[in-house]
Amino acid sequence: MLCCGRALDSPCTLALLVGFQFAFVLYFSLGGFRGLVSVLVHSSEPEFDYSRPHDVYTNLSQLGALLPSHPSRPEQQLRGCLLPSPLLVGPVSVHLSSPLSLEEIKEKNPLVTPGGHYRPPDCEPRHHTAIVVPYRNRQSHLRALLYHLHPFLQRQQIHYGIYIVHQSGNSTFNRAKLLNVGVREALKEEDWGCIFLHDVDLLPENDHNTYTCHPQYPTHLSVAMDKFRYRLPYPQYFGGVSAITPDQYLKMNGFPNQYWGWGGEDDDIAARVRLSGMKIVRPPVAVGHYKMIKHKGDKGNEQNPRRFDLLKHTRLNWRSDGLNSLTYELLSKALEPLYTNLSVNIGEDPQPPPKKPALPKNASHPAAKPNNRDKDKGTLERQSTQAVKLEEGHLKVTNRSSDVGQKAAMKQQII
Ligand SMILES: *[C@@H]1O[C@H](CO)[C@@H](O)[C@H](O)[C@H]1NC(C)=O
Ligand SMILES: *[C@@H]1O[C@H](CO)[C@@H](O)[C@H](O)[C@H]1NC(C)=O
Ligand SMILES: *[C@@H]1O[C@H](CO)[C@@H](O)[C@H](O)[C@H]1NC(C)=O
Ligand SMILES: *[C@@H]1O[C@H](CO)[C@@H](O)[C@H](O)[C@H]1NC(C)=O
Ligand SMILES: *[C@@H]1O[C@H](CO)[C@@H](O)[C@H](O)[C@H]1NC(C)=O
Repeated sequence: MLCCGRALDSPCTLALLVGFQFAFVLYFSLGGFRGLVSVLVHSSEPEFDYSRPHDVYTNLSQLGALLPSHPSRPEQQLRGCLLPSPLLVGPVSVHLSSPLSLEEIKEKNPLVTPGGHYRPPDCEPRHHTAIVVPYRNRQSHLRALLYHLHPFLQRQQIHYGIYIVHQSGNSTFNRAKLLNVGVREALKEEDWGCIFLHDVDLLPENDHNTYTCHPQYPTHLSVAMDKFRYRLPYPQYFGGVSAITPDQYLKMNGFPNQYWGWGGEDDDIAARVRLSGMKIVRPPVAVGHYKMIKHKGDKGNEQNPRRFDLLKHTRLNWRSDGLNSLTYELLSKALEPLYTNLSVNIGEDPQPPPKKPALPKNASHPAAKPNNRDKDKGTLERQSTQAVKLEEGHLKVTNRSSDVGQKAAMKQQII
């Protein structure tokens, strides 16, 4: 104190010190650097009040009323649906616990037709989207998803269908391969212009997050999940909910078939996007809010120990493993009232996880700790970015085909 006494005596120095302190307090109270930037640079991000969400069935009763008076209106009389849809409300509430029964959900969605399809009754939709959900043994999650997604999508006035791809048998879960199957089977059925790859446990919280595709680039939608505190866990994250057009899918040779078990396949898909000369686009964080249904690690979906090794080889393998090497057996296809159930045999994990004896409760088994997943993602990010140092622009982005003949040829290649 003594040595500094003289310096502190100077009123000028004191004022400077106080000034600095004030600046520091201001800086941190604005949320550090980011906060400061958003105050100085006027942010163009849309803003939504998530503290006052609407019911997810808001504005749909009028659509139901249209049903009996116009049983089958000729299509040419319909005007194109307005963009954006006038029915949108922004943030919607998400009910995670005790979902209704399938019958009750069907009653709330009278315009949904068998197979889980929907077309706006009063306008010609501008978008045709298939929602593909890899699935096994998640009955209550599925009901929560259907309860939420049907009214959510109807308010967006798009033509859509929901496909559940059920992995039959007891082998390790293979999300990416199930997605490949879903894309192919959905395109066999209809000329979908956009395909959503959707985890069963993620519910969108804002209906301005439209379930449509970017014409050029694959889209990642679940940019702000509650589990990651409404932020991207890492820049290349492509998991949760994403969307592609058939031509984007073709360009990246679909998805890998070799990821058995939890983890890695979404990073592989992100790498394919870049290796095939595309990039990932995203909606604003304020729009891409999702809630995740909490659950324990699934039996039969253990962490994939080979994922880092596989990721190192994406650059070599993506052209030979994917859509062009996909084999499976469609066991059944059922048009349920709220979804299409594709039950498929996708084969066996060539290296199934060893059968372990039941672990004691307090053992530090990775699957026993739900938080491990998030930590693990950090490692994964480092590894995958290392493994996939990309030659950006190495492959040219080919022109998007607007021509119908070309589109049909493309679809033929996929199915
Ligand atoms: C949709 O619901 C909101 C909120 O209740 C309301 O303000 C808006 O007018 C409704 N839109 C239509 C087209 O009914
Ligand atoms: C799958 O596992 C269940 C229960 O462990 C068993 O009952 C069933 O026979 C198995 N199915 C096959 C095809 O192995
Ligand atoms: C889908 O179909 C399979 C085979 O019939 C069945 O085992 C499974 O329970 C069905 N899943 C759902 C969600 O309907
Ligand atoms: C649980 O952990 C404690 C200390 O870590 C250990 O002493 C105990 O034996 C463990 N119990 C079991 C059932 O493994
Ligand atoms: C893409 O198409 C446009 C017009 O159809 C053409 O002018 C352009 O050269 C094409 N680009 C490539 C890379 O083929």
